Formats: sequence, C-alpha cells, structure tokens
Amino acid sequence: MKQQQRPGEVDPILADGDEPLSNMSSNHYFGDILQTRLSRRSVLRGSLATFVAGAMATRLPFSSAFAAEGSAAAAPSLGFSAIPTSAADTVVVPEGYRVQPFIPLGTPISGNMPAYSLASSGDDQAHQVGSHHDGMHFFPLDGSSSDGLLVLNHEYVEPRFLHAAAAGLAMDRSGFPQNEDGSRDDDQVLKELNAHGVTVVRVRADDQGQWQVVEDAHNRRITGLTPMRLAGPVTGTEHVMTQYSPDGSMTRGTLNNCAHGVTPWDTYLAAEENWAGYFANSDTEIDRRQARYGIETRDTGRYQWHRATSGADEYVRFDASTRGASASDDYRNEPHTFGFMVEIDPRDPQSTPVKRTHLGRFAHEGVIFAPAEEGRPVVCYSGDDARFEYIYKYVSARPFEVATADGSLLDEGTLYVARFSDDGSGEWLALAPGENGLTPENGFADLADILVNTRSAADHAGATKMDRPEWGAVDPVTGQVYFTLTNNTERGENQTDAVNPRADNVFGQIVRWQELDGHSGTRFAWDLFVLAGDQDDSRDLTGQPLDDAAIFASPDGLWVDPDRRVWIQTDISESGMNQGVYEVFGNNQMLAADPESGTIKRFLTGPIGQEITGVITTPDQRTMFVNVQHPGATTSAEAFASDDLNGHWPDGGNAIPRSATLVITREDGGIIGA
Ligand code: FEO
Ligand code: CA
Ligand code: CA
Ligand code: CA
Repeated sequence: MKQQQRPGEVDPILADGDEPLSNMSSNHYFGDILQTRLSRRSVLRGSLATFVAGAMATRLPFSSAFAAEGSAAAAPSLGFSAIPTSAADTVVVPEGYRVQPFIPLGTPISGNMPAYSLASSGDDQAHQVGSHHDGMHFFPLDGSSSDGLLVLNHEYVEPRFLHAAAAGLAMDRSGFPQNEDGSRDDDQVLKELNAHGVTVVRVRADDQGQWQVVEDAHNRRITGLTPMRLAGPVTGTEHVMTQYSPDGSMTRGTLNNCAHGVTPWDTYLAAEENWAGYFANSDTEIDRRQARYGIETRDTGRYQWHRATSGADEYVRFDASTRGASASDDYRNEPHTFGFMVEIDPRDPQSTPVKRTHLGRFAHEGVIFAPAEEGRPVVCYSGDDARFEYIYKYVSARPFEVATADGSLLDEGTLYVARFSDDGSGEWLALAPGENGLTPENGFADLADILVNTRSAADHAGATKMDRPEWGAVDPVTGQVYFTLTNNTERGENQTDAVNPRADNVFGQIVRWQELDGHSGTRFAWDLFVLAGDQDDSRDLTGQPLDDAAIFASPDGLWVDPDRRVWIQTDISESGMNQGVYEVFGNNQMLAADPESGTIKRFLTGPIGQEITGVITTPDQRTMFVNVQHPGATTSAEAFASDDLNGHWPDGGNAIPRSATLVITREDGGIIGA
C-alpha cells in the first residue's frame, strides 16, 4: 500500500513532546493579589534579591531558613573554563575534557545482538537501545566506577528517523508513515513501541578507558509492551479493570518515560509523562480521569497505534472508546493504567516492573528522593510537567529501615501537593480522604479515586499552578530541594505570582526550598535560585543578570552531584530553538551552578536540533554520562523529503541523526566539573 504523511494539522498535545493545557480549575493565581506589586516589569527592574526581600518583608522563614542552612555548607568548585554558546552540529565541552558518543539508538544489547539498521525489524528493536534517551542512572557493580548497569529512559520516537519506509516522504518530526486508509504497518507499530521504554545495559571501561557494552544477563529492554504490575491503592479497583486484566492488577508497557528516580533501596523509577497523547477515544462523554489529562473526543492518537493493520489486542488498546458490554470487554480504562512512576529492579532481569500508584497519576516528569534516614519516613518529590500544573511529594507511612526497605514503602503513605505563598513560605496539602475537602460529597469517593484523579484533587485542595515543573534535585548536604520550571507562555499578566513571576514566561526559572520540619513535614521556605533568560531578562542569585557564560533558557534536566554542583540542562523546544528570542542561546546545553554564590558556567553544548537531558557520574565522579535527545529534529518536512537533514549527529556525513549518550572524562582523570 502507498504510504503517506499523516494528514491534517498537529494537535498541540502531540507537538514537540509538549503538553496540553488541561488545568481549567478555578484555583486563583497569586498574581491576582500581587499583580500590582510584582508585575514582570517591577521584577526585572529591581534585583531578584530585592524583589524577594520586598515580597517577604513581613515574614522571615524564607531568609532565615536559607541563611541558617546555606552558610554551614561548603561550596563546590567549578574549575573549568566556561564555553560559549554554539549552533554547530557537534558536542563541545571545556578545555581539558573529552567527550564521546555512546549507545546510540539501535545499539544491540541482547538476544542475537541485531546490528543497527534503519531496516531493523520491530523484534530487532526489542534487543536494541531505544530512542530519545532521557533520564538515566549508573548502578555500579560491586561499587565499581568502571563497571556497572546504565539504565536510561527512552521518552518517545521520531518515526521518520526510525523506518526505512519514511525515506523521501515529506514528513516533519511528528509525522509517521501511514497507509492510504489511515491504518499503520504492524511492524512499524511494533518497532515504535519497542523503541519506547527503558534500557538496562551493562557497560564497562576497558584498559584504555573506552566504555563498551558488555553482553550480560542483566541487559534488558523494557518497552511499551512489557507486562507490568499495578501496586498501591488504585490496584484492583474499577478504575483499572481492562480486557487484559479484568481484576485490575496488571497492564502492559510504559510510555513517554522522561526523567527518573533512584530509590533508597537502589531500584530505578521511570516516569510516565506525556502518555495521554497516545490514546484515542471516540466517546462523546469523557470523564475527568481522561479529560483532566488532555484526552478529548478524538479518533487519533500520537502515532495511531490503535490503527495497526493486524488489529491485535496490544495495539487496539490505545483506543479507549467504550465498545464492549463492560470495562472487562474493552480498553475504556487503559489510560487509567498510565501516568504513574514505574519501579524497575535493574539487578534482577526477571523482575516485573511495578507501577506505584500512590505516587499519584499525572504527567510525571521524574521523581527525586530525599536522603533516607533510618527510622524516618521515605520522602520523594515529583513534578507534573504541563502548563499550570503542580509539584507533589509523597511521604511513606512506614519508616525506612535499610535492612528491609523495598518498593512496598511506596504503596502506603500520603501524597501532598505544594502551595507556594507569596511571602516565601509554603505548605504541603494532603491529598487524602477527608483532607482539604477531598470527600465523597465533593466528588472524591475514596483514596483510589483521589489518586486516579490526582490533578483534580490538587485543584480542589488549592495548589499553586506552576510554570511546567520538570526535574527536581536534592542538595545532599543541605537537603534543599530544587525544581526547574521550564517555561509557560500561557501565563498572563494577571496570573503571575512570586514563584512564577513572569507573564509570557519564555525562559523559565529554578525554584528551591528548605523543608522547615524535615522532609516529611508540611511547611517549607522557598527561594528563586535563578530566573533564566538572556542578558536583558534574567537574574541570578545575587540579583545580577546572567552573563555570556551563563545565559540559558528552558531549564529541564537537573542534578545536584555529591559535591553540590547543580547541573542544569536545557530543553528549548524544536519550534523555538535558534530563532527569535531563543537565538542567542544557540543549541541546547548543560551548565553547572554553585548553590552558595549562584555562579553559573556553561559546561557543554549539544548538536543541532536536540535537547540535553539526563546526567549521572560514576561513584568516583570521574566519568559522566549525559544524554542527547532528538538530534536533527529541527529538519523540516521538505528538507527530510529531499534528504537534506539539518543534523547528522553522532555519525556525521549524511547519516540519520540518532539519540545517544555522551561519555565525558577529563584528560587528567579528575572529578567532572571540579
Ligand atoms: Fe519530557 Fe517535561 O520533559
Ligand atoms: Ca522535550
Ligand atoms: Ca524533560
Ligand atoms: Ca522539557
């Protein structure tokens, strides 16, 4: 059958992996109160410090908390020379550093080790590294810094760079080959599902310090098809009963895995972010369990997987329309089995991944754990990356005990959502039965109902609408929690507040807070660490504009290393990068910041069309792994049709660009960033 590009315009939900605006709740914007005092202009005229101090003048928890904690901790060194911005199709690191691409899309890791090829089959892809590398962790074997399991997420796919059949078609980054009747080739659908998910791969540095894939029993692909167990309060409820799992205990696959988390018991959590876009639903009435997540009446899904020619059950399930006599006869509930954090034990290749429902259901960007303390609850933080969505925290009911800790600690506890007050204080609002108005009278039947409808519960509780919460990170010394707020061009002049202070926020900011009663408490004091932007529209911690070595926009990936360096990664979207207000920033990049002085220095610039996301070092901090996602994605449909790609990284020449990991070392073998 003839193949053609998907007709029609791109649904905003599907564009650039970005998110729909689906928070229609009436929660007030603090800007309604503050607008006259804290307009964008006044924020930018004064220093950030003045602005914050002015806003917080009447109460002191903010400044006292930060002064008390911050002054006791040693600042990290940032000994490298900052590099300039770049628009070149290459990766640049500071003088004295080395960088090498590693495990690009299609790298064989298991089975009969099928070599990368555009013509690889869907089955081959199940034994190869997936696409769109994102959150990542290095699990050392026996504490080694030269031998371990690299575990990384594959957020989504760019079908034109995945299928030989796409060659010559006028296809943009969202397009995919499609039959004339709108159906999709089965093997292409299989390949796309298998290029999603998570890779577990053993990697080892050889005698020359070159990292290699090791064929090993740990190596494993978890994909959009892998059977998964549900755990926590939503398990077994009517919300998640499907034809595949009539008792609501199981589902298949994880999708759109953005950032990740590492538990105190050394397992990996993959976040399900923009999963809603994958589902079609032709029902005329769509309730809040889907509508509040951006699923509306439509017969299209992101890649039209439900239109696979075979009509196989694992593909049909992406159509959530009501078709059968009951929920056990169709997939009306399938979308309710997505939107969770998925726990994977990389050290047990036979283990079944587990969706931990008590951590809430939303567009999870990732999750970050507070350092675990013996006898204290386990605490983790997670952002919901969509415009005007929220930041959450989970506190376990049972205490952490190193001898017995496991994933069941995530099944019994309390989920909270953050309210940031304009005076620099903040509080955590419990999303639990009977708390904050979450009662049957108000439409929240029980805990499972609250968790399946996490966004609606947070609306009801009165959480603060944020500028797209992305990654979080915890300072291992002070316990301060950082979150990137990437941008929000939908925020109006009368919707600004102290923590989201700019209308038409094109550049984003980083917020941080100090818990006032320990991580499991409900009060915190917050600060804006940096307002990102260009030299004219930015503020660092000292109130100064960012200089040439520090300008950046759309912070996304974030990590605080053991020495307290704050690593910041950027994701200016494909539709904006290298143009207009974003031109000055060049290609997406990574920077390092000093949490005490606020100094920021550019450390790495990536190739054309990509975002930098995912960062971890080996335990000795002498090898760093960083991901490059969707290189070449800014190639237009016309340029693709004529094989005139604007990026060819990492293979160069006329190659198809591929997402890949970077291995970064120092020529003198030193600590990365020091
Ligand atoms: Fe997948 Fe919010 O970045
Ligand atoms: Ca992205
Ligand atoms: Ca991200
Ligand atoms: Ca992003």
